[in-house]
Amino acid sequence: MSPTDKQDTTPTPQRPLEGKVVIVTGGNSGIGEGIVREAAAQGAKVVIDYVSHPEATDAIVTDIEAAGGEAVGCEADVSKVADLERLVATAVDTYGRLDVMVNNAGVEFGETLATLTEERYDLLMSINLKGAVFGSKLAAEQMRRQGDGGVIINITSTHEDWPMPSDLAYCISKGGMRMLTRTTGVELGADRIRVVGVGPGAINTSINDDDTPAETKALTGAIPLSYIGSPQEMGRVVCFAASEAASYVTATTIIADGGLMQKPGAV
Ligand SMILES: NC(=O)c1ccc[n+]([C@@H]2O[C@H](COP(=O)([O-])OP(=O)(O)OC[C@H]3O[C@@H](n4cnc5c(N)ncnc54)[C@H](O)[C@@H]3O)[C@@H](O)[C@H]2O)c1
Repeated sequence: MSPTDKQDTTPTPQRPLEGKVVIVTGGNSGIGEGIVREAAAQGAKVVIDYVSHPEATDAIVTDIEAAGGEAVGCEADVSKVADLERLVATAVDTYGRLDVMVNNAGVEFGETLATLTEERYDLLMSINLKGAVFGSKLAAEQMRRQGDGGVIINITSTHEDWPMPSDLAYCISKGGMRMLTRTTGVELGADRIRVVGVGPGAINTSINDDDTPAETKALTGAIPLSYIGSPQEMGRVVCFAASEAASYVTATTIIADGGLMQKPGAV
């Protein structure tokens, strides 16, 4: 046998997510919008979850349909399990199934241990962590009913691992999503449901609107690739994780940060 006999020469499909049904929470802005648009461009039928700015959702749906794709909006608050049930039901009622669940919705409050209140802690955790936990549970139940696997993607952060004392609750929530990814990845492996974390570094979205120009300059200088990433770039990483090209990737996180975490002294 020659060494090439074992090589997989299957060509990569032009539209790797053709026909897949994908939910993206917090999908009408920032990284979520980048994921929605890239998934649709790769052939997916997309359910766009949102809690505000319905006009932004409508504009994305219009663009996707104009390009020959399929997408539908669904107003659902991920901190409420009943809303998540309605979100999964929307995918099944509209497109017949669910193949990929992207738990992307998240908020970031700049609070230290000294300033954090019970109310702010509960609000952040209910969106970032509880939303991802029950989004995963409901998606897995639907995928198990279908019986042919699926993919759950959790949008974490470099801060799933990297302390940022000014954002204590945010870091705790992303650390929790790291263990959600690893634990459910192990639990769901036998059902051929893969669970992958995607951990963005600094990405150009409104979540960073409070950064001063000086902070943005310092941050950019700390990134080995020397620029702040785009929602489109995160969309491409998520679509890779959701595709068959990542068939052996589960219970782990793909960090997409331009090298930021590895730069000595970047913190
Ligand atoms: N931008 C970055 O630098 C960066 C870095 C690492 C991780 N992230 C993560 O990426 C994800 C998306 O953030 P982003 O930067 O695109 O900011 P963003 O503010 O544009 O996106 C967050 C989205 O979540 C939605 N959302 C908030 N509360 C919700 C709720 N209760 N139910 C449903 N949706 C809700 C918002 O409406 C918004 O659409 C977040 O989980 C964030 O933690 C962002």
